[in-house]
Amino acid sequence: MSEKPEQGSLSEKPEQGSLVAGLRVSVSGWGMAVPERRVTNDDLAQLVDTNDAWISERTGIKERRVAGAGETTASLAIEAGQAAIKDAGIDPADIGCCIVATCTSEQPIPPTSAFVQDALGLRCAAFDVDAACSGFVYALMAGASMVAGGVFGPMLVIGAETLSRVVDPADRSTVILFGDGAGAVVLTPSADVGVLAWDLGCDGSLTGLLGIPAGGSRLPSTPQTLAAGDNWLKMDGREVFRRAVRVIVDSATATMVQAGVTADDIALFVPHQANVRIIDSAAAKLGLPPERTFVNIDRYGNTSAASIPIALAEAADAGRMHAGDLVLVTGFGAGMSWASALLRWER
Ligand code: ACO
Repeated sequence: MSEKPEQGSLSEKPEQGSLVAGLRVSVSGWGMAVPERRVTNDDLAQLVDTNDAWISERTGIKERRVAGAGETTASLAIEAGQAAIKDAGIDPADIGCCIVATCTSEQPIPPTSAFVQDALGLRCAAFDVDAACSGFVYALMAGASMVAGGVFGPMLVIGAETLSRVVDPADRSTVILFGDGAGAVVLTPSADVGVLAWDLGCDGSLTGLLGIPAGGSRLPSTPQTLAAGDNWLKMDGREVFRRAVRVIVDSATATMVQAGVTADDIALFVPHQANVRIIDSAAAKLGLPPERTFVNIDRYGNTSAASIPIALAEAADAGRMHAGDLVLVTGFGAGMSWASALLRWER
């Protein structure tokens, strides 16, 4: 059992379009972890009918990290979580809750967060969030609400994935896109509003666009599902692409409107890293220039729920965010789900 958490608070005056006028919570530490193994586009061209020029032009990806033997979603989450706790300078015993956002869990039961909690020596609440590539922002909002509401003190929020384990190595349309990794933040109660506005949503009529058909309650894994390739990720890439730009623009705009800010006020836009063409198109429509849009997809590919926390950690370490800056994060993914949050960077 952790000690009684320090009391957080919701700020008092509700504003138009939001439940409360923000959450008094701060991102006080961050960390990331990626597998050692780099797989370049040329490496993939040895395995499937593709080439570096096609992948680079259509996606912006140059290489991705792929988990090796012994590396798993939990092992990456543990490494990122440990780095974030160290960076925050807090005692692991003070962490009140650990949330892991993932759609490639360690195993179907128990939650990945249980493995992470034990390995990090935490004695706290732990649960997983699955909203595919939007998962980290959903988890961030769940964690921030609980910290601001005084349910917990410091909260560890991790996004971790091993997409390489669910992508068909022979499917050139998906194997080129995804990578493995984890990113984490520590949220602590704050005197100031650190989460100003948000927009979370899902259009469940679009479940067919992107998913793994077998291995769940609906179609349990059998030798037949394995033989049919139904345990691999399937994606209607063109349709996801078409909808993704609109979803990002709508969600990011709704969040800025809710906070009463414009693109000019955003110091850094950190979108989900799915495809550089999606990012460029959405950022241009939002009026966010490249120098205020963070991109690292060239080095990691699409790491789903890990992409935003990895990007946040890299951006913070590179000095791209300063105290008081407004940072807009937007994710979208299978579901089709989306999630944005507007943060005021404190550290
Ligand atoms: N190498 C070479 N050629 C390829 C490859 C490849 N790896 N993949 C497809 N092609 C070919 C196709 O067969 C097609 O050939 P054809 O014209 O002879 O039929 C041609 O290239 C064009 O294919 P498209 O699918 O139209 O290519 P597109 O420009 O749409 O790019 C891509 C495909 C990269 C998948 C794009 O649609 C995309 O990024 N979609 C969004 C994906 C996404 O964001 N997914 C993640 C959501 S996150 C989550 O929740 C897990």
